[in-house]
Amino acid sequence: MTDDRPIDLTGTGFLELLGDDPRPVDLTAPFAIGRPGTRAVTIEGRVALAPMAGVSVQAFRRQGRRFGASVVFTEMVSISGLHYANERTRDYLRIATDEHPIAVQLFGTDPVLMHDAAQQVAEAGADMIDINMGCPVKKVSKTGAGCKLLDDPDAAVAVAKACVDATDLPVTIKIRRGMRNGSRDCLELGPRLVEEAGVSALTLHPRSAAQMYTGFADHRLTAELVELVDVPVFASGDVTDRVRAEAVMALTGCAAVMIGRAAQGNPWAVRDLTTGLAVEPEPEERVAELVRFVREVVREMGDHRATGFLRKFYGWYLRGEAFGKSARRELMAFETPGEVEAHLLDRWPGALPRLADLEATVRYPDDTDRVIELPVSAYGGG
Ligand SMILES: Cc1cc2nc3c(=O)[nH]c(=O)nc-3n(C[C@H](O)[C@H](O)[C@H](O)COP(=O)(O)O)c2cc1C
Repeated sequence: MTDDRPIDLTGTGFLELLGDDPRPVDLTAPFAIGRPGTRAVTIEGRVALAPMAGVSVQAFRRQGRRFGASVVFTEMVSISGLHYANERTRDYLRIATDEHPIAVQLFGTDPVLMHDAAQQVAEAGADMIDINMGCPVKKVSKTGAGCKLLDDPDAAVAVAKACVDATDLPVTIKIRRGMRNGSRDCLELGPRLVEEAGVSALTLHPRSAAQMYTGFADHRLTAELVELVDVPVFASGDVTDRVRAEAVMALTGCAAVMIGRAAQGNPWAVRDLTTGLAVEPEPEERVAELVRFVREVVREMGDHRATGFLRKFYGWYLRGEAFGKSARRELMAFETPGEVEAHLLDRWPGALPRLADLEATVRYPDDTDRVIELPVSAYGGG
């Protein structure tokens, strides 16, 4: 790689880097994840839905699949939570038949617990196991997990290897560039995870842990990592639309892109990435999709937990002038998701036919889907 200018997707400067003859990319082309000794998982396209704690619940993942994401990741699950879980702390991780391929993300440091957790996750019906080595949130990093493993490559390799050895599922790892600003540690750790631990794919979010979500993800590092490993690399960070998705693939040679924040309350961004159809939804379509999402979340986690969980989604869904601040504030005040739904449909009756259409065509998960008792993390950030 001769050009060492940053690849920054937050502005438009990256367009200049593409030059006259960019590498051709096809966001719909299938590819496979898996190495000798593991199952091979076929991914039918190049757009993944990112793991996001407090967001990537089943309703979100299924919606992402419906809008075109070719693979989804769960929010992170604690391996010690899995090991020590008792009835009180256990929650449900559901894997619906129409979510596959799905990667369940784990975090933790103890190779013995990781081995055990990987087997539980395989049993639960996951297609792949992803390990979080990027989460900068204190609650996680103070235990030595998440981003802390970027500073302890031997421990990172040991826990990854324990996971690889535990089942025949492909193991993937999600990393940041390093702990500190300017770090290039990912370029040493990534190849070690592949060569020494035998992982089948990597995701790089090329911000440092110190950066959290500030600044930009410098995908120049993604390009460098792609050159160093012979497994697929997912590019995560600041991929918000089709132009950026295509550009980051052309500029880095990554196998696939991952969309995170841009998809919060906005499945249409996933559709834009996968089809190039950048059509702003009508307010009624937003409302119908939100009501359907509310219904699925209530089925998934019950009225009580859904009430708090859903609050952040109202602002995300009802963006734009058609709704305004007051409409968003009104929704926050309701006690139950049922009241929210009634209010939305009363206020935007034009959403009713669209909602009826969704109800008629999109199934709900049912008893034929797997429901596995796993503690789902209450932490945030990665
Ligand atoms: C609310 C939130 C929760 C997140 N939780 C996780 C997580 O559990 N595991 C993980 O690997 N990354 C997590 N991330 C990081 C995202 O997967 C992604 O790498 C990051 O947001 C950059 O991509 P984006 O610019 O498309 O959002 C989280 C991000 C956000 C905003």
